[in-house]
Amino acid sequence: MNIIDFLNEQKKWTESKYNLWKAYHSDYEEYKHWQYHNPNVKTQNALEAKILRQTHVIEKGMSLSHPREKFGVQKAMELLDFIGEFVECGYNIKDSAPVMNALGVLRAYLAYHEERGFKPEEVLKKFEKYSMYLLEKEQYGIVEVNKAEMEKKVRGSFPDFFMSRHSVRQYSERTIDVEDIEKAVKLAMKAPSACNRQSCKVYFYKDKDVNKELGNLIAGNTGFDGEVQNYIVVTSDMSAFYDSFERNQVYVDGGIFTMALVEALHYYGIASCILQNGEYKERNLKFKEICKNIPENEKIILFIAIGYYKDNFTYAVSHRKNLEDVLIIR
Ligand SMILES: Cc1cc2nc3c(=O)[nH]c(=O)nc-3n(C[C@H](O)[C@H](O)[C@H](O)COP(=O)(O)O)c2cc1C
Repeated sequence: MNIIDFLNEQKKWTESKYNLWKAYHSDYEEYKHWQYHNPNVKTQNALEAKILRQTHVIEKGMSLSHPREKFGVQKAMELLDFIGEFVECGYNIKDSAPVMNALGVLRAYLAYHEERGFKPEEVLKKFEKYSMYLLEKEQYGIVEVNKAEMEKKVRGSFPDFFMSRHSVRQYSERTIDVEDIEKAVKLAMKAPSACNRQSCKVYFYKDKDVNKELGNLIAGNTGFDGEVQNYIVVTSDMSAFYDSFERNQVYVDGGIFTMALVEALHYYGIASCILQNGEYKERNLKFKEICKNIPENEKIILFIAIGYYKDNFTYAVSHRKNLEDVLIIR
């Protein structure tokens, strides 16, 4: 390479680093401004997201094989405070699918505890003023499933198959057959990826100790980690991308790949629950120490708790928003 080419290359690389810094700084500014922990962010969507998350904590509690006795009182009280804040900000409960969902889940939560001889009086009292909003016909909270019934849907039409997958936090004791993982990953590899770069990898560990150590470190498996025999680790390779505009591509491709993977696992009879990766640097280094074979250039996008379906199991309904909240046509 002659000196001119060398200097041009260096100039391009310096510009590229500067653009990257600018893009990350702009991300920082935007996220700092819009995340719902910013006390100034009171949009309907932000308040609803906070309500959806809190509601999910409660429905997830009910969906476990062994929920903590009398669980969720503080969470339910906080949820009712969030609903109060929503109303104070001038938003309408009836127009909001997430708030209607929250009220439905709270009702299911109270019924769940009542069946077990527990009446959380403070929740009941605070909940009372919202009882007129409840829709009797809707099902909230948890649903019990029979595996044979579910399998008919899995082999049915595409909507039947697609709607029969749920995040499941209860698993049978049967050991995972590696061949089933291979078949599922083979299908998931059909997931689209940016310029077909296929940056994702799936790590599956047969070793019990590795899975146990992962389980101890993963944050989102509280209450059901004792039932998980295997965790899948989905990674995406940073060195498959270039320039600032591709800085989030590892997460986009990782997310699309994961969706295909959980559907494929479901098709082959494996229940799953995606688990968020907290992303803190120290924790990620620890994850890599446990796994031993994930190179530095790969980002851990998320984990998936997996296990074969039990003959009968329960899942959290996790109601969705209304179509018009998601599809905007002009
Ligand atoms: C990126 C991502 C992270 C998630 N993290 C967790 C988690 O840490 N713990 C958990 O129990 N569920 C987790 N879930 C599952 C969601 O709670 C679940 O997908 C949502 O409630 C919708 O329910 P469904 O999957 O049954 O349709 C996660 C899902 C996604 C897509």
